[in-house]
Amino acid sequence: MKMSFGKEVFLLILCCFSLICFSSSMRRHYKFVVEEALYTRLCSTKSILTVNGEFPGPTIRVHKGDTVYVNVHNKGKHNITLHWHGVKQPRNPWTDGPQYITQCPIQPGGKFRQKIIFSSEEGTLWWHAHSDWIRATVHGAIIIYPRRHSNYPFPQPDAEVPIIFGEWWKNDVNKVYRESVETGGDPNVSDAITINGQPGDLYPCSKSETFKLNVDQGNLYLLRIINAAMNLILFFSVSKHKLTVIGADAAYTKPITNDYICISPGQTMDVLLYANQEPNDYYMAARAYSSGFRVPFTNSTATARIQYSENYYYTPPSTSSCPPLPYLPNYNDTRAAFNFITSIRGLPHENAHEVPKIITTHIVTTVSVNTFPCPRGKSCMGPNGNIFAASMNNISFKTPSYDILEAYYYHIHGVFRKGFPKFPPFVFNFIADSLPVTLNTPKRGTKVVVVKYGATVEVVFQGTNLLSGLDHPMHLHGFSFHVVGYGFGNFNKRKSPMYYNLIDPPLLNTVIVPKNGWAAIRFVADNPGVWFMHCHLERHLSWGMETVFIVKNGKSSHAKLLPPPPDMPPC
Ligand code: C2O
Ligand code: CU
Repeated sequence: MKMSFGKEVFLLILCCFSLICFSSSMRRHYKFVVEEALYTRLCSTKSILTVNGEFPGPTIRVHKGDTVYVNVHNKGKHNITLHWHGVKQPRNPWTDGPQYITQCPIQPGGKFRQKIIFSSEEGTLWWHAHSDWIRATVHGAIIIYPRRHSNYPFPQPDAEVPIIFGEWWKNDVNKVYRESVETGGDPNVSDAITINGQPGDLYPCSKSETFKLNVDQGNLYLLRIINAAMNLILFFSVSKHKLTVIGADAAYTKPITNDYICISPGQTMDVLLYANQEPNDYYMAARAYSSGFRVPFTNSTATARIQYSENYYYTPPSTSSCPPLPYLPNYNDTRAAFNFITSIRGLPHENAHEVPKIITTHIVTTVSVNTFPCPRGKSCMGPNGNIFAASMNNISFKTPSYDILEAYYYHIHGVFRKGFPKFPPFVFNFIADSLPVTLNTPKRGTKVVVVKYGATVEVVFQGTNLLSGLDHPMHLHGFSFHVVGYGFGNFNKRKSPMYYNLIDPPLLNTVIVPKNGWAAIRFVADNPGVWFMHCHLERHLSWGMETVFIVKNGKSSHAKLLPPPPDMPPC
């Protein structure tokens, strides 16, 4: 008796101790101070908005299922919001971040304590500003390790490195954005692509600062790749090394090995790189994939280096300081892009959620670049003297000045309207070479999709050739979705679903809709709240290529919205 009592007390103490340890590591706090900082790139110095003075910003590290709090303090001059891209935030859209969708912005001097609830995510995600174009410099990595004491479903890497792609403007990014809004024209393209904040050897004044990854021969590296660029889908490769993709958007994938990857803004990819080459210096390189006809883009190459440590003992045969660049597909090689993109398959057992087979809510939506006529007496810089716009199902989303989530929760009328069309209002040959100009002008409105809790939703995104066919990386907040199909041409309601992959589709939060083609996604609407859906090319988002999903509360108490935090930023 005595013995077992002692044991019980011991166990109790052990239990309390581990609980304390556990909860302290499970509820981590971060302090994010949004502030200006001076950075020098491309031979000139400018002030940029950062978090804690860092560019790219600080990395958030958690284990699967953790909850963290980020204390955001806006010490800058601009309104801002922060978003945790790809974190589903079950029942908690309150701190999700998109400006005027789930909150009003944090004003200069303001604070907001944001709760980030991790659930099924495992791998790499990222956070970024979600107001105007501030995310150009305000972003960083989120690393989600497996649950404590469990392993990766692939060999344990010797080291892990975030690889974050970005874009750098010599000008103030906000000016670039405001100018494009005023003129109605295309915003100026960036002056450089960056890897971990650095453009690399091929740009002026960038050589010494270039990002270097030191490796040991024989070791395995996990690259946690994030495309935080504003407007560029990118090809990325490493000279002489193969890339094995094992995860995307914080879900594991069947390993695929390729010479290059293609990644859109919003997407993340976990890639294994085996340092199995001769000790030497090798380039990594990133360059745009841009398929649009006469669509301007940043046509230059960012580089970083892989340096083998044994290099010290090794004298390269030639003394040239620049190793050769790796192979990258041509900038307009749609085939190369989609051969890779469609090769990614989910790991069904890891992802727990089943692909919905019976669909209760069918949505087909066009994604188009459009124009609005130029107001009389003004001159506009968009196509044919008009103003650039973009739409989903012919509605160019008008961002309200009061957030939709609070309007929904507190029944405030006049902020948004229900009834986003579930089908294109005009059906035409979406991908025809030439289309009547009357189709160019969309409507303007703040129309949302409302679905019941537990609805099984299919969304087909149909690209159009209005103005120019383009690829669109469509992103949904609050969910990961199964990408059940991709195709070129027009989606065919009868035939296309016959080729769906319902066995091992990838589970993503951002899907690239191919130029003049379509992509179909499925998800279960089991997360009550207000969730933004938009193109992750910042140009298109500013022009109105977005809508909002409102998922209603379910019956059980676990299927209802959580109450709002006390410090919601005021409108
Ligand atoms: Cu990367 Cu609306 O988000
Ligand atoms: Cu787009």
